[in-house]
Amino acid sequence: MIGRLAPIFFAGVIALAVIGFLVGVMDGVPQPGGLDETSMVAKFDQKTVDANPKLIPAVSYSEVSGSAMGPTKAWQSTPQSLPSSQYDLYTKIKLSPAEKEASGQLRASRRAFNGAPPIIPHPVENTNDAACYACHGNGGRIDGKKASVMSHPFLGNCVQCHGAMAPAPFQNLDADVDTSFVGLPAPKQGQRAFQGAPPTIPHSRWMRENCSACHGGPNGWKGMESTHPWRTNCTQCHAPSAELDQMPASDWVPMLPPLDVVSK
Ligand code: HEC
Ligand code: HEC
Ligand code: HEC
Ligand code: HEC
Repeated sequence: MIGRLAPIFFAGVIALAVIGFLVGVMDGVPQPGGLDETSMVAKFDQKTVDANPKLIPAVSYSEVSGSAMGPTKAWQSTPQSLPSSQYDLYTKIKLSPAEKEASGQLRASRRAFNGAPPIIPHPVENTNDAACYACHGNGGRIDGKKASVMSHPFLGNCVQCHGAMAPAPFQNLDADVDTSFVGLPAPKQGQRAFQGAPPTIPHSRWMRENCSACHGGPNGWKGMESTHPWRTNCTQCHAPSAELDQMPASDWVPMLPPLDVVSK
């Protein structure tokens, strides 16, 4: 009995499947109901995008491979600078060994080792490079404190190298870890052929391209300034170290060139 009913049962199932398929095909592909695509396209037309450089129009997956890769316009933000106070390059500078010692200690407290990117010793609210640059581009002063000047060219995404402070709720946490790591200390001075001779540069020039960021008149670290900030070609007299520079003669640096940014 069961053996005779089984084919009839399966024939029924197949008939139902065929009817279901035909009905489905006749209905067509389901359309999105509430989404009005035309109004979205209108909102983000090219004119709106041009007017607001922070708007990044999304591309469809099929366009991804053909679209430009790399930093977006918003990420490659425009550096702004604050007005800086006038400075007389020819002011007489008196170097104080005590100030040099203090500057050295403050610098060391923010660096894992000599040449490491310093941590950011203040809270940062956003990761907008233009904000960092406004203060650190040419040593903006705020509340009696001076923002040290970038020793290197403008590089995008400051916080990829400079560690930010812990965000608000975590600032009181004890995050110290036991470690025996001891960073390379900064050199105290260069070598001189004789007294009064220009000292050699006791550090690499990589990421320290802007000598005046540390040794310069208006911006230098106290006690580390040179007595002659008006001179332009520092390496004319101060010999770089072949060992520390690790750079071939062509000044080749194993790094992407800095972003080409426009200052407003
Ligand atoms: C409102 C101005 C201002 C802004 C904006 C600002 N900074 Fe600073 N920054 C300062 C000042 C002032 C100091 C010096 C603090 C001190 O000496 O105690 C400083 C110190 C630093 C230092 C330590 C420098 C050193 O050599 O010891 C780093 C690194 C730094 N900031 C990075 C950043 C980064 C990255 C940003 C953006 C996310 C940023 N700052 C935004 C004002 C600013
Ligand atoms: C690729 C990593 C990298 C990026 C990106 C970077 N920095 Fe630095 N920065 C360094 C290093 C390394 C040093 C330390 C140079 C030294 O002491 O030899 C430094 C030093 C500094 C100093 C301290 C100079 C001093 O007085 O010792 C400031 C201020 C600074 N950077 C700000 C910035 C700002 C602002 C940005 C973003 C516009 C930025 N940095 C992006 C690696 C970076
Ligand atoms: C990020 C900060 C920084 C930058 C930028 C920097 N230096 Fe230095 N420099 C130091 C420190 C730290 C020392 C060791 C302490 C000292 O002598 O003041 C030093 C020491 C020196 C000395 C030896 C000074 C002495 O009394 O014996 C010379 C010369 C020198 N640097 C030249 C240069 C030149 C030229 C440049 C630019 C290519 C440069 N520095 C860029 C931080 C810097
Ligand atoms: C014409 C040669 C010459 C040029 C160019 C030159 N220096 Fe010097 N520099 C000297 C001499 C000489 C001394 C030693 C001065 C002394 O012992 O009284 C010196 C000393 C220094 C010192 C030790 C502190 C001091 O002033 O005694 C630093 C730091 C320094 N120079 C940085 C620089 C920087 C940065 C530049 C580029 C802006 C530069 N120098 C350009 C000749 C030069």
